[in-house]
Amino acid sequence: MQPPDTVRTVAELRARVAAWRAAGERIALVPTMGALHEGHLALVRAGRERAERAVVSIFVNPKQFAPTEDFDAYPRVAEKDRAALAGLADLVFAPGVNDMYPPGFATEVTVAGPSGGFEGAARPGHFAGVATVVAKLLIQCAPDCAMFGEKDWQQLQVVTRMARDLDLPVEIVPHPTVRDEAGLALSSRNAYLSPEQLAIARKLNVVLSRVAGELRVRPVAEVLAEGRAELERLGFGPIDYLAVAEPESLTPLDVLAPGRPARLLAAARLGPVRLLDNMAV
Ligand code: PAF
Repeated sequence: MQPPDTVRTVAELRARVAAWRAAGERIALVPTMGALHEGHLALVRAGRERAERAVVSIFVNPKQFAPTEDFDAYPRVAEKDRAALAGLADLVFAPGVNDMYPPGFATEVTVAGPSGGFEGAARPGHFAGVATVVAKLLIQCAPDCAMFGEKDWQQLQVVTRMARDLDLPVEIVPHPTVRDEAGLALSSRNAYLSPEQLAIARKLNVVLSRVAGELRVRPVAEVLAEGRAELERLGFGPIDYLAVAEPESLTPLDVLAPGRPARLLAAARLGPVRLLDNMAV
């Protein structure tokens, strides 16, 4: 099967989308930074269940990386990505940095509320970078729906809030985290882990499942402290957070009211990688 065509400019993207619209077809957008894995491909498949056409954007967005982060080293494997999308996606949109942010670019989308804590606290400016690029991608492509993985739970809430607040005519569709056979949430950055680190990483979801199971039967602070100690014992560290929050606003919760939804969120460093995971409580 042929890989999908790649376009690099907004004008080309809009021309393709306009032709599909004229034929009465719906469009799903899957925003990515490339280095595609099974988690991304699941988003594309889910997009194709909702729409006749799937567009995958591949853009390593400099605005969401701090100067100390891995922007330059972030894996860029365009040909491999295109091959992985053969028979799945209809179009790849891969703009250059100067197309996305031409000289003089001066606008930033900041979302308060769910951006505040957790990743927002650990990575200042990260969610403004994400919201800015996602707003642009949604305006450029004008899809009927856009697919986001629950792996980046906070990002999903930030994007959902932004689309609602700005009345963007798009449905933001969450998709469950795709995990490997040991339950490790798939992430492009897992490629940085050594075999020994991978074995440890695979225990994160096991600890989180246990913590999630106990949170409603024992005091929250106690269960979280034990979970944290267990992660440290296993070799994770530092642990940026292991916390429970209201799922949409991301307000931290000290007490879980019966029947009230809650999300367990964790970020822990392991060697060169900051692993994120989350689960319903
Ligand atoms: O989740 C990601 O890969 C990125 O944050 C996104 C949504 C593609 C924006 O650059």
